[in-house]
Amino acid sequence: MARRGMIGHIYEFFAFRRHQQLGVIGVYDRSTRKEFTKARKKLARQTLRDELAIEDLVDKDFPTPRYGKKGRNKKLHIYGAAKVAQRFLPTTSGTGAMVYPWVVGPSLGLRGPYIGDDMYGGGAFCLDPWDLYKRGIIRGMSMIVLGSVGMGKSSCVKSFAVRHVQHGRKLAVLSDRKGEWTPVVRWLGGSTIKVAPGGSQRINPLDSGNRPSVSSDGRRLTDEEWDHMVRDRRLGLLEALGAILKGRAMDSEEKRSLSLALDHVVDLRGDVAVLPDIVDFLLNPPASLTGTLRVAADSLGNAFTRCTTGRLRGMFDGPSNVEFDQELPAVSVDTSSFGGTSGEVRAIVNACVGSWVEAMITNPDNGQRICVYEEGWDNISSDADLQRMVDAWKLARHYGIFNVLVLHKLTDLDMAGDSGSAMYAKAKSLLGDAPYKVVYQQPSVEDPMLRDGLGLSDREIRTIHSLPMGTGLWMVGETDRYKVRNRLTREEMPVFDTNTRMDMKEAVTV
Ligand SMILES: Nc1ncnc2c1ncn2[C@@H]1O[C@H](COP(=O)(O)OP(=O)(O)O)[C@@H](O)[C@H]1O
Ligand SMILES: [Mg+2]
Repeated sequence: MARRGMIGHIYEFFAFRRHQQLGVIGVYDRSTRKEFTKARKKLARQTLRDELAIEDLVDKDFPTPRYGKKGRNKKLHIYGAAKVAQRFLPTTSGTGAMVYPWVVGPSLGLRGPYIGDDMYGGGAFCLDPWDLYKRGIIRGMSMIVLGSVGMGKSSCVKSFAVRHVQHGRKLAVLSDRKGEWTPVVRWLGGSTIKVAPGGSQRINPLDSGNRPSVSSDGRRLTDEEWDHMVRDRRLGLLEALGAILKGRAMDSEEKRSLSLALDHVVDLRGDVAVLPDIVDFLLNPPASLTGTLRVAADSLGNAFTRCTTGRLRGMFDGPSNVEFDQELPAVSVDTSSFGGTSGEVRAIVNACVGSWVEAMITNPDNGQRICVYEEGWDNISSDADLQRMVDAWKLARHYGIFNVLVLHKLTDLDMAGDSGSAMYAKAKSLLGDAPYKVVYQQPSVEDPMLRDGLGLSDREIRTIHSLPMGTGLWMVGETDRYKVRNRLTREEMPVFDTNTRMDMKEAVTV
């Protein structure tokens, strides 16, 4: 990667034999400059006299140095400089890495927003995944960020996202479990949708979404293709909800009854199909639905009522009363009200929100967008949501989407199922396939997972143990490693600060 032709500067220092006793390497005080110069000249004269005296003593045939027109005491003159001369040699980082191995690290170049300082000596660390993808250097558009609490991983993702938005990209935060992205999104001029029990905002997960003008392979999208896309997405969500509610994958009868229910409701309502209509069909199916199909529909109908009653009532059971504004630079969905609720409720919320936002953003006409799953272990702990993510991440590049999943630790993967289960393998491949991995400090109990799950070497693991707050190990592609100290600006700091907000929350609850 060092070979990418970044122009760097290698400084060559000419430290000269003479006058080092004057301490010419360094900065000297302006007020003492005169005396210093006087003393230097005096010493130079003395040294010259001494040397001439020695020359007189040596054999006359012995070759002595010869000086050019400028004499011996000139700047840059190897025998006569009274100062250390600094010369800038512009060179490529490729050449630099050859000349100074182990000193100049690889570099991704200076394209894209600045993230921080490359602590291995590469200067500024900038990253533009779209550019690297376009140039064929990195063939993937997803990143996972790992790290213990308070080490700075959210701040890193926030600065990454904010600076990309300032470069013309857009941002969507699909799951914000702590509501910590709300100030960031507002700061960028975006809007937040808050789904909460008893709240006033409602989204319809069966919305048809934002129709793109072209399909994923760049052809004009026909009406039939669009209808297929919408139907697939809706059916995918219904099957995911069924799996969450039943705690197992849907069998063929259940899939068939969901498909019949969806077709019936779409015929009846068109674009504004809603979940209560699906429940209604399943509980009161037409007489033509008989036998095991009818039994399956009835049992599913009862299960689906949990999406429209209880804690979830009013959130996903009618037409949307909020809009996902495509033109805004940033939109987040605040799910912080579900902190203490059951896993099932959170899984339903994630599936509904994820599917709805996905319907809005999987559109190449929208430009390039970063999608953040903050504290995303909920997303990988539900099979349905995990499958949706795996599918969405595969298509991401076609839609100009860059996905970022923030996790505490890789052992969160255990929530995705027993090791050996299909779900565990799915989650592991989702993380393993991400070409960008950023690891902040981790406890040593995580070592085996880092080694097996991410393929880190022992040396990299040792580095991770000693990372200070705000510094992470960036793994880009197969081979490139960067230790990057994320730099926050004075304006960003109060907006990204989670410590103060935690203190404020505590103060309010006391
Ligand atoms: N690079 C950084 N420079 C300065 N302060 C930072 C930096 N990264 C994090 N912080 C501070 O640490 C606090 C916790 O960081 P945060 O990103 O929320 O941690 P995490 O998401 O890993 O739990 C933030 O409120 C912020 O004030
Ligand atoms: Mg965080």
